[in-house]
Amino acid sequence: MRKIVGLFGYPVAHSISPVFHNAAFKKLNLDFTYLPFSVRPKDLKKATEGIKALNIVGMNVTIPHKTEILPYLDKVSPEVKEIGAVNTIFNKNGKLVGYNTDAIGFLSSLREDLKFNPEGKSIFLLGAGGVAYAVTYALIKKKARKITIINKPHQMAESLIKHFKKIAKGCTFKLVDFSQRNNQKLISQADILINATSVGMNPKDPSLIKKELLSRNLLIFDVVYNRETALIKAAKKRGLEAIGGLNMLVRQGAASFEIWTGKKAPIETMKEAAENALANK
Ligand SMILES: NC(=O)c1ccc[n+]([C@@H]2O[C@H](COP(=O)([O-])OP(=O)(O)OC[C@H]3O[C@@H](n4cnc5c(N)ncnc54)[C@H](OP(=O)(O)O)[C@@H]3O)[C@@H](O)[C@H]2O)c1
Repeated sequence: MRKIVGLFGYPVAHSISPVFHNAAFKKLNLDFTYLPFSVRPKDLKKATEGIKALNIVGMNVTIPHKTEILPYLDKVSPEVKEIGAVNTIFNKNGKLVGYNTDAIGFLSSLREDLKFNPEGKSIFLLGAGGVAYAVTYALIKKKARKITIINKPHQMAESLIKHFKKIAKGCTFKLVDFSQRNNQKLISQADILINATSVGMNPKDPSLIKKELLSRNLLIFDVVYNRETALIKAAKKRGLEAIGGLNMLVRQGAASFEIWTGKKAPIETMKEAAENALANK
């Protein structure tokens, strides 16, 4: 019988996950279908119970449900406990197990696309929302030395630092005011600059960082995946190595795919389908 997986979000219509997951199922000849489910926050509990009732194999979870869904799961992975958010559910013999593959996706893109190992490195991180939590967790686990965090409302960055301080071990945090984001000295001390804000999703969004501060040895990672952002364009123009969030998205999807199917994900097929889906939007 055909197996169902999908995505809980609100809204979900914009998501390209169905396209690249279904392309992967087709490539491997698996009798699976991936469906988007628009779940209003007030219906989240019922919808999650529905995964069991309908014998759905698994679910991705996106905004605004990544944290709110936690009480409705039977078990969560160690990553979920430390990040505090779920993006993948697996219905394992009637028990719902929560995972977080965003951190895995981020790390594989860092490794594969930028050849960057965070160990001992200094990171300049913009943003303190959902993705910033997965990114910070991944950087701590890979023994980054220092993370400088900048977010518009101070409290969000403070909460993020408070959340991770107990597991940070050798990694130190520095909180910098948003008005100081173009501080040349701070940027020049970093090995990589990561944009984990949603700035860049809109075609008119400017780069949060002035282009003249993007100097030769700095790597750039932008989690925004729906277009080449002004930050990425400026970095490339100045000859820097820079990567957007599409490969991170595909790789987090590939990790979910492997949890659900037990098969190695066809990454190139997924990537191609994701690129085509964005080009046709
Ligand atoms: N590549 C991937 O795999 C992947 C996965 C998930 C999400 N994403 C992308 O990552 C981005 C962030 O998602 P999220 O889930 O972290 O969202 P979120 O929880 O809503 O956080 C958004 C972040 O962006 C900041 N921000 C928004 N507008 C800003 C502005 N005008 N100036 C400065 N900061 C601003 C927010 O700070 P404020 O408090 O100032 O608003 C916050 O830090 C989105 O573009 C999303 O599509 C990528």
